[in-house]
Amino acid sequence: MIVDDFRSDTVTRPDAGMRAAMAAAEVGDAVYDDCPTTRRLEAMVAERLGKEAALFFPTGTQANLAGLMAHCGRGEEYLVGQMAHTYRLEGGGAAVLGSIQPQPLPNEPDGTIALDAIEKAIKPNDFHFAVTKLLALENTFNGLVLPDAYLQAATRLARSHGLATHLDGARLMNAASASGREAAWIAAQFDSVSMCLSKGLGAPVGSVLVGPVDFIAKARRIRKMLGGGMRQTGVLAAAAIYALEHNVTRLGEDHRRAAALAQVLARFPDLGAAPSRTNMVFMAPKGLDTSAFAAFLRGRGIAVSGRYGTLRWVTHLDVDDASVERVSEACEIFFDRQKAPVEVTAQA
Ligand SMILES: Cc1ncc(COP(=O)(O)O)c(C=O)c1O
Repeated sequence: MIVDDFRSDTVTRPDAGMRAAMAAAEVGDAVYDDCPTTRRLEAMVAERLGKEAALFFPTGTQANLAGLMAHCGRGEEYLVGQMAHTYRLEGGGAAVLGSIQPQPLPNEPDGTIALDAIEKAIKPNDFHFAVTKLLALENTFNGLVLPDAYLQAATRLARSHGLATHLDGARLMNAASASGREAAWIAAQFDSVSMCLSKGLGAPVGSVLVGPVDFIAKARRIRKMLGGGMRQTGVLAAAAIYALEHNVTRLGEDHRRAAALAQVLARFPDLGAAPSRTNMVFMAPKGLDTSAFAAFLRGRGIAVSGRYGTLRWVTHLDVDDASVERVSEACEIFFDRQKAPVEVTAQA
């Protein structure tokens, strides 16, 4: 049984207060735009992010895809980080479902895409090329907060070439909390932003896409086409409203706990733990069997996730200081066992 689940901040379960808000939600048919609670959530997010309009989606993937498709048409392209979620981890949806060509560019170690790489990738007006329409960034990116000056410079550059800008702000509130910037300031750099409610904010389902009124009207049509027109979403929107009212200011606690976890893991040099990035800690263990380590942890009720040869730990509402303490104990035991002298049996 998993007791301490560090795989992702998506694993949280609604608490009693959130469930009560869901049970009490006023609902209507949201496809007819008749659901008062969903409308309240959309108005709340639009206001909080300083945008004209907002639209509720079942997932971050669909909110991003609808955003990309509202910005780009068939045969047009978006510039995106090679390791960005909207390129690498959304099933190729922009290309498959949107006929949009991705132009992936290397992500620098700080999560940015070099400005000259962006500039060089913007295609000239020549019929050989797809038409470059959009720059898509992600913040936080693998837990990293993109620097304020970078957000301004990259979006200014995009605008100067007539490109639109989209932010995958799945963890926008983590970025805001860690940078001390208002979420609206970050959102103001972009034409459109998607934000997940089902990650660190703790709602069970949902993302919101924000942007200008005409853009959101276009996204609404695309959402329907993608099968995301849901009906009595008020029960989900109520959870999201509860999340925004109760779980934003506490994100700093997740960041503090991730820093404590990084310190614990750094005591074991073989783990190759890096300092924490908001609510995430990454490890690139060297000379260590990562699956054996992960399996050992799992045997003690601790779950972590692994991808591309790294292990990732994420803090959230459902892990606490005792969870970090249990990780510390588990690591002590794991490495003590590794140090234990190997018994040599006498050869006959
Ligand atoms: C940065 C980022 N963007 C978008 C998404 C997609 O969200 P969803 O899982 O709700 O589709 C995720 C999910 O993990 C994410 O981490």
